[in-house]
Amino acid sequence: MNYRHAFHAGNFADCMKHALLVWLIDALQAKPAPIFVLDTHAGAGRYDLEAGPAQRTGEWRQGIDRLLDTPPPALARYLGCIHALGLYPGSPALIRAMLRPDDRLACCELHPDDLFQLRRLFARDPQVAVHQRDGWEALGGLLPPKERRGLVLIDPPYENPDEFSDVAAGLATAHARFRTGVLAAWYPIKHRAPVRGFFTALQQTGIRDIVAAEFLLREPVLPDRLNGCGLLVVNPPFRFEHDAPPILQALLERVGHNERGALAAVTRIADE
Ligand SMILES: C[S@@+](CC[C@H](N)C(=O)[O-])C[C@H]1O[C@@H](n2cnc3c(N)ncnc32)[C@H](O)[C@@H]1O
Repeated sequence: MNYRHAFHAGNFADCMKHALLVWLIDALQAKPAPIFVLDTHAGAGRYDLEAGPAQRTGEWRQGIDRLLDTPPPALARYLGCIHALGLYPGSPALIRAMLRPDDRLACCELHPDDLFQLRRLFARDPQVAVHQRDGWEALGGLLPPKERRGLVLIDPPYENPDEFSDVAAGLATAHARFRTGVLAAWYPIKHRAPVRGFFTALQQTGIRDIVAAEFLLREPVLPDRLNGCGLLVVNPPFRFEHDAPPILQALLERVGHNERGALAAVTRIADE
């Protein structure tokens, strides 16, 4: 467990994931019934971009820093949430800020330092449970939720080559236990081959109704670079395929560098 999200918080990939996350939660909250959100790989919850690891890498300067002035309309809702929160939010703080009084959030984290910060952030918060628990195992243990409605965010560090397989297996477990849940899994795009294998593995699970929202800064031919990223969504809410492309496009216009192969697209991986 070497990965520390604090080094990467606010980079273009974080912005892409969180902009779509905000859209997904809004869509689920279009109905008044309470929702449950499970964040299987939660990180520290929020980050100081002006200090420590984030300041050292400066990745956020090519991400969130390029978005905050004069937000494009498609990103206004997401950036409004960021502005309202002060310290830059990771997925737990962002999700928590969106919960209505009867909604719940459960976060899993294994790194002791991140766990400590997460616990401090949500101390005495009756709507948030913080678990020192393996996120993969939690997919079996915490699903289905009593609310029967909600979202699972799967955002592992991709530290080892097997992690795409873990995500495919994790999605199959989550879907078997929580068939109506919206499942969202972030993935890196360094080059195409692992992503193709991931899609094939997903198609072999037999899960229906899967789309992939993808964002590429450039042609993914440099396997050592994070050339782009995707958010795989099972059971995408109505209009996701319509609303996600302009969000991705607006992001690309702000953080892209007009490189060859840049892309913002939503593709269907499995039919409804
Ligand atoms: C990409 S970061 C999460 C970022 C967070 N979701 C966000 O958007 O702000 C991945 C996190 O997963 C944690 N982690 C790694 N393996 C884990 C596991 N098996 N179960 C739970 N957390 C894990 C890491 O310590 C790291 O903090």
